Amino acid sequence: MSLSNNNTVQSPTSNATHKDVSKGTREVILAENLNKCVGQSPNTIHILRNLHLKIDSGETVAIIGSSGCGKSTLLGILAGLDLPTDGVVNIESQHFSQLDEDDRAAIRGRRMGFVFQSFQLLQTMTALENVMIPLQLAHVNNAKQIALTALAQVGLSERAQHYPKQLSGGEQQRVAIARAFAPKPAILFADEPTGNLDAETGKQIIDLLFSLNKQLQTTLVLVTHDNQLAKRCQRALLLKDGQLHSGLLEDKAL
Ligand SMILES: Nc1ncnc2c1ncn2[C@@H]1O[C@H](COP(=O)(O)OP(=O)(O)OP(=O)(O)O)[C@@H](O)[C@H]1O
Ligand SMILES: [Mg+2]
Repeated sequence: MSLSNNNTVQSPTSNATHKDVSKGTREVILAENLNKCVGQSPNTIHILRNLHLKIDSGETVAIIGSSGCGKSTLLGILAGLDLPTDGVVNIESQHFSQLDEDDRAAIRGRRMGFVFQSFQLLQTMTALENVMIPLQLAHVNNAKQIALTALAQVGLSERAQHYPKQLSGGEQQRVAIARAFAPKPAILFADEPTGNLDAETGKQIIDLLFSLNKQLQTTLVLVTHDNQLAKRCQRALLLKDGQLHSGLLEDKAL
């Protein structure tokens, strides 16, 4: 895997909106001049400051940074779960951050998958039912068959009828990965997907994530504290002082 120092941060005057025809790539995420402030004055926190980001189709990008620097906030804004205070997010050339919540939710459902640190499975539903949720919301035919196939891909065919509390942390995260990939999303957002797992289970989960990502040619945006994990992505971007820079976390910041 190589880390590129090129084009990781777009300047406001760069030609960022043009498609990169030379590489045969297509930009799926374009964020320009993103600002995010929270809290009331005089206690306002300025989390993101004029942040720019361009990610092409099929790229794997790690976003790293120390705790509290705004990684989850950025991921939430890119996914339309949260809105920027100022600035624009385009997803597949649509002005995502200017759509209303219903329209953003529809795009999320069709085009995006999520894997969170805390798994976020519905406890009252079986593994199979959890994986079927996004498929049913997107009115996909044969949701059950697709969900069963997705569970087989993560090695959990035998556990389809089990509830989350009957599964280990690693197994629950595999269900969450199956749920995220089952609708074949264009973009997969993963926020510290191994944060609640031991090192060995975490490695298995990451291997699975990259393997499915390769098979399905998904664009992967991965938030992590882990430099080793970040190195497995094509690009690593460091979020610091509200802006993205190419590079890894210094050891002392870990
Ligand atoms: N709604 C809010 N009100 C006040 N502060 C907030 C709010 N949302 C986020 N913050 C603050 O913004 C900063 C960035 O939070 P965020 O969760 O994005 O950080 P992070 O980089 O994901 O951290 P971690 O690595 O610990 O998950 C933190 O200082 C957090 O306390
Ligand atoms: Mg976070």
